[in-house]
Amino acid sequence: MPSQGKRALVTGGAGLIGSHLVDLLLREGWTVRILDNLEPQTHKYGKPAWINSAAEFCLGNVQDPAAMRAALEGIDVVFHEAAYGGYMPEMAKYVLVNSFATAQMLEMIRDQGLPVRKVVVASSQAVYSEGAAHCPEHGEVAPRLRPAEQLRAGDFAVHCPLCARPTTSVPTPEATPGGGETVYALTKVDQERLVLLWGKQTGIPTVALRYSCTYGPRQSLFNPYTGVIAIFCTRLLNGQPPVLYEDGGQTRDLCFVEDIARANLLVATTDKLDGLPVNVGSGRATTVRDLARIIAAQLGVALEPLARGEFRPGEIRSLISDISRIRTIGYEPQTSLEAGIARYIDWIGTQGTIDDYFGKAEAGLRAKGIVQRVQA
Ligand SMILES: NC(=O)c1ccc[n+]([C@@H]2O[C@H](COP(=O)([O-])OP(=O)(O)OC[C@H]3O[C@@H](n4cnc5c(N)ncnc54)[C@H](O)[C@@H]3O)[C@@H](O)[C@H]2O)c1
Ligand SMILES: [Zn+2]
Repeated sequence: MPSQGKRALVTGGAGLIGSHLVDLLLREGWTVRILDNLEPQTHKYGKPAWINSAAEFCLGNVQDPAAMRAALEGIDVVFHEAAYGGYMPEMAKYVLVNSFATAQMLEMIRDQGLPVRKVVVASSQAVYSEGAAHCPEHGEVAPRLRPAEQLRAGDFAVHCPLCARPTTSVPTPEATPGGGETVYALTKVDQERLVLLWGKQTGIPTVALRYSCTYGPRQSLFNPYTGVIAIFCTRLLNGQPPVLYEDGGQTRDLCFVEDIARANLLVATTDKLDGLPVNVGSGRATTVRDLARIIAAQLGVALEPLARGEFRPGEIRSLISDISRIRTIGYEPQTSLEAGIARYIDWIGTQGTIDDYFGKAEAGLRAKGIVQRVQA
């Protein structure tokens, strides 16, 4: 690719995924601008030290048309990572930050004829709800999220939408019907559909990357709502057992952040997956209980995780990404879970005293109904 085609805007470039992508792009010879408002829940102490000084940093909100217009000046490729996330009770804020700001950015590029030649948007495997599952009678099915009443009754299984039998999880390919059954997931669906359909209308290449659960150094240690590895680490470092929801048998597809960053670079530098949603993850299942044990072992803290008869409405039981599509352009996850957790723990060691934010936020999580009690 010619060097004049390598000017990137990374929105949310101060965050976990964005900042690693910024570093990778700079290493690959790109010119990089960041647009980030340093959302206080993520960046408790303001501008983080890890923001690469070789990138241009613009403090601003993606919702602000003036800030976005200035950030888009002279840009070839937009990596749109900024978003509001997690299990939060807000509705309007998700729509504004995720859906509205994306639409506004796309309109601006189109209506002002800006020379952007590709938009890569951060979507999520959350668009699949429970993802693909296998029913002994009906084969592959796509169950919806489990109703809160079912979880409240202590039944954590994912049932077949046709015959209600318990299903087993199978890797979820991009063709699995999605939809978005939480406000966050709904706005991720909005973002990827807006970007992909705008791409068809304008002829500007686009890709929507559906990330699985991403972790690694720089993952906020201050957010009690998201990032299971961050939460378990801060609990264990404070001598507190990790808290499991349901029975801890949920499985996650955990992907090291550098693998996610590399997937962004790969899709930006080929036209093979243009116009498509593309899964990116590890393709491997790990139960949340096993994860807690792996982290405790690596930290050398002999605390077993606790399941206290609680659940989170809207939580996904077991969603593993089928990564065949992105493998066709040479993607392969490079960092194993154990190696990735070791890298994260090393980084935490450089972060000073770590508070148990989760423990402090627990009462609030219950009061807001984000965490509820099983009544079986
Ligand atoms: N981390 C995951 O497991 C995961 C999984 C699936 C999808 N995603 C998506 O990947 C993207 C990046 O997530 P992350 O894990 O790096 O999150 P993060 O919270 O670490 O980073 C997001 C960044 O966006 C910034 N931001 C938030 N609202 C903004 C606004 N209104 N204007 C400007 N900047 C704003 C924040 O300050 C932060 O630096 C998001 O779109 C997220 O939905 C993440
Ligand atoms: Zn069935």
